[in-house]
Amino acid sequence: MAAFEGRTALVTGAARGIGRAVAERLARDGADLALCDLQADWLEDTAAAVRAMGRKTETWAVDVSRSDAVAETVERVLETFGRIDVLVNNAGITRDKLLARMTDEDWDSVLAVNLRGTFLFSRAVARPMMKQRSGAIVNIASIIGLIGNPGQCNYAASKAGVMALTKSTAKELASRNVRVNAVAPGFIETRMTDVLAEDVREKMLAAIPLRRLGTPEDVAEAVAFLAGDAASYVTGHVLTVSGGMVM
Ligand code: NAI
Repeated sequence: MAAFEGRTALVTGAARGIGRAVAERLARDGADLALCDLQADWLEDTAAAVRAMGRKTETWAVDVSRSDAVAETVERVLETFGRIDVLVNNAGITRDKLLARMTDEDWDSVLAVNLRGTFLFSRAVARPMMKQRSGAIVNIASIIGLIGNPGQCNYAASKAGVMALTKSTAKELASRNVRVNAVAPGFIETRMTDVLAEDVREKMLAAIPLRRLGTPEDVAEAVAFLAGDAASYVTGHVLTVSGGMVM
């Protein structure tokens, strides 16, 4: 039987990039998919790919930083699928600026999506997962949350927060067989990194022992491992997927 047969996974930020790759990876292993992003129509390509693999899927328009919208979405997902076995908190943004130039809005918006969004979805699924006495939450952090980066103090703080949230919630939920882990990707080829200048890209490659940027699929493999039974004795872990950039 496929690893996620009969299980439902909820993935945020699933319209493109890493979120889409995660959704497709879990669907390939049998999961049904609740797909969330800012606008439902942005999710259509992901939904079509999931359907083509014979899995059930629905899309939800939700801003992960809005408490009421998140609670409502989780309720609807439970009505539609009956259960949530896997939550992947992937939606994330950057608003890069040096500290001296960073506005309140730059700070607040990044913390709201990356950290508050992860908290809100985790809280909303905690009760149903504890009740069913099983579940896996995988939070997408970043190596920047471990090592810092000039121009990204807001992003680094949000991702360090995601890792701390991961460990605390892992300790809280473990007795009910709900595991919480994080993946900390390095530099992955998505729209987020497409915008980087060529010289920045060259410098980055020189700092990566495996000498290539990662792919969304590289991250999706790590998520699938942590979300599945192969990791049934792993909780509170942060798995770096960075080509060796951070060890
Ligand atoms: P992306 O920009 O390609 O995709 C992010 C998705 O999140 C988009 O579909 C976007 O619409 C959605 N989103 C943004 N704000 C949202 C909100 N408020 N509510 C709901 N959905 C929202 O980005 P990418 O690269 O796929 O990143 C995914 C995750 O991986 C993020 O958490 C990012 O911080 C993290 N990451 C990415 C790295 C990279 O090099 N690309 C490296 C390390 C971490």
